[in-house]
Amino acid sequence: MKSEMEQDLFKVLVTEEQLKRRIAELGGALYERFAGKNPLFLGVLKGSFVFMADLVRACQLKSDVEFIAVSSYENATVSSGRVHINHDIQQDISGRHLIIVEDILDSGNTLAFLKDYFLTKGAASITIVTLLDKPARRTKAVTADLVGFTVPDEFVVGYGLDYAQAYRNIPYIGVLKPEVYAGQ
Ligand code: XMP
Ligand code: MG
Repeated sequence: MKSEMEQDLFKVLVTEEQLKRRIAELGGALYERFAGKNPLFLGVLKGSFVFMADLVRACQLKSDVEFIAVSSYENATVSSGRVHINHDIQQDISGRHLIIVEDILDSGNTLAFLKDYFLTKGAASITIVTLLDKPARRTKAVTADLVGFTVPDEFVVGYGLDYAQAYRNIPYIGVLKPEVYAGQ
């Protein structure tokens, strides 16, 4: 039987098996780049928390983990264009190799802002890893160094991604039925 969350989905876009395989590949690529460099994984909350947990275990690098909480969407399916830092990281990152971990690169507002922000704070290098890339709606010139999957212009949920804070605990990526967010 379908769960109450699954009944709100129109289709599955990326299965659990596909996620597992791709994240193992991303972990391998990060290991090649960062072994011996003690990078700092920096997850962008809340959407990255599931991906982050799997990615750091997939690459087995000696590294540490921080999270920054930002918001720009405020329960709508389109970006407000503004990025707020709701919770900043607690340590000095100057001279560190940062691996920014995002759930989805959409307009580019969030990652363009974060890249500038951490360069100003003196990061030695910034590598952007995004699970999903939705190039159709890009308004800022920002590209990810590693992308899990390129997705079409549909509002996706699951595996950390939400709609109005729900659906983050679906273990795969799905597309919501339009009637679920009708009226927004
Ligand atoms: P921008 O537009 O700044 O977006 O690149 C990045 C943040 O916006 C959220 N986002 C989504 N969340 N389904 C979601 O659940 C989507 O299709 C979607 N598109 C953007 C996300 O939190 C991301 O970090
Ligand atoms: Mg979100």
